[in-house]
Amino acid sequence: MPELMINGTKATVELPDGIPLLWVLRDYLHLTGAKYGCGVGLCGSCTVHIDGEPVKSCIYPAANAIGRDITTIEGIGQSAMGQRVQQAWTEQNVHQCGYCQTGQIMSAVALLNANPNPSDADIDLAMSDNLCRCGVYNRIRKAIHSVADS
Ligand code: FES
Ligand code: FES
Repeated sequence: MPELMINGTKATVELPDGIPLLWVLRDYLHLTGAKYGCGVGLCGSCTVHIDGEPVKSCIYPAANAIGRDITTIEGIGQSAMGQRVQQAWTEQNVHQCGYCQTGQIMSAVALLNANPNPSDADIDLAMSDNLCRCGVYNRIRKAIHSVADS
């Protein structure tokens, strides 16, 4: 059976043809932090990292992740940047209903790893694939700036 490396741990799982990574994470491995929103790559609630890059796991074939490092919200706190972003989210009370927030955090960590001091425009661009029905975009921006300033 194929092996996936998830949050630094190997998982042996069956991968039916074409199954998206989100289904494997949630239904097979019970890692339910990444959320199902639109299911077609438009909302970002399912965002995880593959080799540090944000991807939408609802449309990412799980088989493509074999041999690569998968990080989910459950493992993002293993990195210093992941911890800092999670802390900033708490301090700034970013979440409202919370549904989109795991995806938002995954995209924010990827942004700050690539660009430690992003401008508002950089943030808006990098976070543009993560939608929030509660509209907490200003708090997201503030939390990202607070990490950059710290
Ligand atoms: S659930 Fe994956 S982008 Fe919306
Ligand atoms: S906090 Fe509710 S959808 Fe973003």
